[in-house]
Amino acid sequence: MSIYPIILSQTKFAHRDSLQYPFEERGLQFGDGIYEVIRIYHGEYYLLEEHVSRLFRSAEAVKIQLPFEKEELKTLLNTLLTKNDVQTDAKVYLQVTRGSAPREHTFPVGVAANAYVYVKALPRNLEFLENGVGAITQRDVRWENCYIKSLNLLPNVMAKQEAKEHGCYEAILNRDGFVTECSSSNVYLVKNGEIFTHPATRNILHGCVRIRVEQFANRLGIPFNEDGFSVTDIETADELFLSSSTSEIMPIVTVDDKPVADGKPGKITQQLQEAYVIDANIETKKVEQTN
Ligand SMILES: Cc1ncc(COP(=O)(O)O)c(C=O)c1O
Repeated sequence: MSIYPIILSQTKFAHRDSLQYPFEERGLQFGDGIYEVIRIYHGEYYLLEEHVSRLFRSAEAVKIQLPFEKEELKTLLNTLLTKNDVQTDAKVYLQVTRGSAPREHTFPVGVAANAYVYVKALPRNLEFLENGVGAITQRDVRWENCYIKSLNLLPNVMAKQEAKEHGCYEAILNRDGFVTECSSSNVYLVKNGEIFTHPATRNILHGCVRIRVEQFANRLGIPFNEDGFSVTDIETADELFLSSSTSEIMPIVTVDDKPVADGKPGKITQQLQEAYVIDANIETKKVEQTN
């Protein structure tokens, strides 16, 4: 899928071919930046407020001065969709780095942040959503501030590549046997009709879809426990699933080549998936568009 032609660069719109960042860029040299990935269904944002709020929290945590205010950013993001006439399911990638400056670890003085945003078509992965995916377990070797959505993703990249090389979709990360999250998603275990997941501490990214998973569970009367679970708990789990803006709520049906329960997507996972489709207005918009 190709990138739509108009890019939001700082607060201006430009053609993607006209963007040229200087060689000495802190995002490139240090991973000194933050980002967001926002889901779009039928040309409309899902969980925009949550993503924008998290971007501002990440910026504050790493002391990056964003080149826009919250409301201004939301307006710009909506205009970006209009300018590209986005009607499809898609995602927005938004990145802000500390800027361009000669390479020096300490913050450059008087240098503006570099921000860009692009939109890319992204169809829903219906096959994986319906049948589930495989995962492997891996040690979580990341730093202690994983709640910041930072560009420093090398451990995540390594873990996800390992999963791919095992023919799997995700890597379930653990610290001393205690499951934190996946390389690019949050993860949940279901046992005896209850959901278990890692608490929203500094050790995981506080997923925007995770917020919804908790709300859906509350609405459906399914206990949502933030005590976490261990790698060995997976052996006796009834269900396992992950969540993220691009993966939605996705069943995990094998872990380290062994089936989770009967190896099929579980009932509670499916209930949450149904709640997601309603909340994101996916079917309604599809019907509106085909009429
Ligand atoms: C490490 C990690 N955890 C969790 C998530 C899920 O976050 P969200 O639901 O906001 O997409 C992501 C998303 O990219 C992620 O990279």
